[in-house]
Amino acid sequence: MDKFIVKGGNTLSGEVEISAAKNAVLPIIAATILCADKCTIINCPMLLDVYVICDVLKILGAKVIIDAKSSTVNIDTSGINGIESGSNLVRKMRGSFLIMGAMISRFGRFKISLPGGCNIGTRPIDLHLKGFKSLGASVKIDHGYVEASSKKLRGERIYLDYPSVGATENIMMASVMAEGETIIENAAEEPEIGDLAKFLNKMGAKVSGIGTDTLKIIGVKELHGANYRPIYDRIEAGTFMIAAGITKSKFKIRGIDNEHIKPIVAKLTEMGIKIDLDKSQLIIDGTGTLKPIDIKTMPYPGFPTDMQAQMMSLLSVVKGTSVVTETIFENRFMHVTELKRMGANIKIDGRSAVIEGINRFTGAEVKATDLRAGAALVIAALGGEGETEIRDIYHIDRGYVEFEKKLRTLGADIRRMEV
Ligand code: EPU
Repeated sequence: MDKFIVKGGNTLSGEVEISAAKNAVLPIIAATILCADKCTIINCPMLLDVYVICDVLKILGAKVIIDAKSSTVNIDTSGINGIESGSNLVRKMRGSFLIMGAMISRFGRFKISLPGGCNIGTRPIDLHLKGFKSLGASVKIDHGYVEASSKKLRGERIYLDYPSVGATENIMMASVMAEGETIIENAAEEPEIGDLAKFLNKMGAKVSGIGTDTLKIIGVKELHGANYRPIYDRIEAGTFMIAAGITKSKFKIRGIDNEHIKPIVAKLTEMGIKIDLDKSQLIIDGTGTLKPIDIKTMPYPGFPTDMQAQMMSLLSVVKGTSVVTETIFENRFMHVTELKRMGANIKIDGRSAVIEGINRFTGAEVKATDLRAGAALVIAALGGEGETEIRDIYHIDRGYVEFEKKLRTLGADIRRMEV
């Protein structure tokens, strides 16, 4: 297992290029199951989670060729026959549950182990299952497995009690070849949902209402292969933007969609960070004096939960009191203990964290408890005094393409070492 050693204090400069979004590409790769054909993902982020979901498809019978050099993934799903169950797949990666909707849609039945909770919350799947049932599937939960089957899925009007990202994606994939029309109301509006819908439409599906909370899906008989280039990673971009604030630096970020990063831009601007936005790039200037702010995570277009930990790192070194409220996941404050080791002054009160700004972080031995918590520690360490050792960085490798290389390009002192 690797660790990062970060020496804080360097100012960052130059430019950094953002990769495609992990949370867009994972459901897109799952969606390739829907056709018995070839699909190509262009500019695919070469991440641990991408390798894992590709392994999952291979176990099901797909041929997957990953060309890391050109960041291209070729997937031929004609060999998937629906016989292999997903018994152990979810254990490899929670996101593997995203194959459920596509498997029921193409083969009429699928059995998979129930995904458990993780470091950020209990993460139930009741909304996914409610959607499958509404489409006419019978769903059985037995001995830790969930099995769904249906002779023919039928379009239906489905109201999600909560705009869950995963449930919206899974139900959308289950319904694209269902008979008739499906309406998903109170659907999640995250940009990654729209990207999946666009990929499905490229495969021949009929999804409309993209970018709204009501998706309309008219079932088609079959889907065909497609080539696709997923959207940029708004969370990776946001993480670098916050790094500029923590290190009091000014640099360029290339590869953004300025619509998708609006909620992040709004809060950073409120703090006093200057952002010069162009269509697909921006210049971030964190050299000024920053103000404390309050943040509440919300479904898109609210402030993203996936930026909460990084924001907490920044607010920890801003003079004054800030309050961060996490409303999406019930256990997403694991980074607080680690940030405190680096000198942060944070008190948790239920779903809120009250942060009293300190002058600067001090180097310490810390560990990444999940992906975004890990990124938060790295950027905290960059602005800190002395050396920080961050363990369990496999979490970071799940979702950030060459994080330390990109930071080094900007001038950071960060090394990867084998433990
Ligand atoms: N929820 C339910 N029932 C369900 C589904 C979800 O109660 O059937 C609850 C969850 O327990 C959670 C809330 O709804 O409290 C939000 O969950 P959601 O389903 O929206 O999230 P997800 O699909 O499991 C995706 C991302 C997460 C991101 C969230 C929220 C992927 C692969 N994962 O998870 O990304 O935090 O949406 O935006 O797309 C990350 O990248 O670090 C990450 C955790």
